[in-house]
Amino acid sequence: MKLGFIGTGAISDAVIRGLLTSDYAADEIIVSRRGERFSTKLAADFDKVRIEEDNQAIIDQADMIFLAVRPQIAKDVLLNLSVLSDKKLVSLIATIPIEDMKAWLKTDARFDRAIPLPAVEHHSCVTAVYPGSPDVMALFEKLGGAVAANTIDAFDGYATGSALMATYFTLLESSAQWMVAHGSDYAGARRYLAALFSGLAENTNKSPDQSFAALVDGHSTAGGLNEQVAKTFEREQGCAAIHTALDEVFARVKAASSS
Ligand SMILES: NC(=O)c1ccc[n+]([C@@H]2O[C@H](COP(=O)([O-])OP(=O)(O)OC[C@H]3O[C@@H](n4cnc5c(N)ncnc54)[C@H](OP(=O)(O)O)[C@@H]3O)[C@@H](O)[C@H]2O)c1
Repeated sequence: MKLGFIGTGAISDAVIRGLLTSDYAADEIIVSRRGERFSTKLAADFDKVRIEEDNQAIIDQADMIFLAVRPQIAKDVLLNLSVLSDKKLVSLIATIPIEDMKAWLKTDARFDRAIPLPAVEHHSCVTAVYPGSPDVMALFEKLGGAVAANTIDAFDGYATGSALMATYFTLLESSAQWMVAHGSDYAGARRYLAALFSGLAENTNKSPDQSFAALVDGHSTAGGLNEQVAKTFEREQGCAAIHTALDEVFARVKAASSS
């Protein structure tokens, strides 16, 4: 399988490094010269990476082509290109609908969208794929896992979920600041909370068949401190705040997709 990448930026770099340090069977990976900082380093680090100057040449030579330019310039870049129907396309470009990209590329080739995150480089994040063609799912399985979204709403829901990262750190920072206000030093509070949450993440990964609700039960004792914090969080509208934030991000993703 020959892979092509149009737009060799941060996320293409992470995907390519992840693939070439996994047992994924890539014969060759052809990358656009732009961005040069990433493409030059990739070609220096891996024999299987070759740089092409011309985006159409990448399409013509690759079996599966990844589109990874920024959404703002996607139309200008893709309008100059065309894709034969026997190729496979995977867009990593946020928000742009498949139908628009097909029109710009003058193609009816098979098309998936995916949302890899930078941790794919270390095979440690699950990638949402729409609609989830088997070979694209298999590729992202090598990078930590893949989930297929059956509808565009489900896919946009995964994109929305990926916006929770800063809130995770907000929870940690705000808890650390509370501990500092009660006498801890920041380094101690940081170390303690980081280990606590990393242990919880490990427990979650070790029990894939347990729902999060079951994990809430497993980490609370009736009348205990964990149950108390969870109940206060609910009473003070913590869950409602998260749902409102996700609703707002989802609406923004939808608006960007239709503009
Ligand atoms: N970063 C993430 O975590 C992430 C996750 C999921 C999806 N995405 C999506 O992936 C896409 C790329 O994101 P990114 O973070 O990798 O952005 P990025 O680092 O800015 O990479 C985009 C690359 O596209 C190159 N480019 C610009 N014009 C080009 C052209 N005409 N032909 C070929 N390449 C061209 C740029 O090169 P120059 O430097 O020469 O301009 C740049 O290196 C975006 O649509 C984003 O929504 C990103």
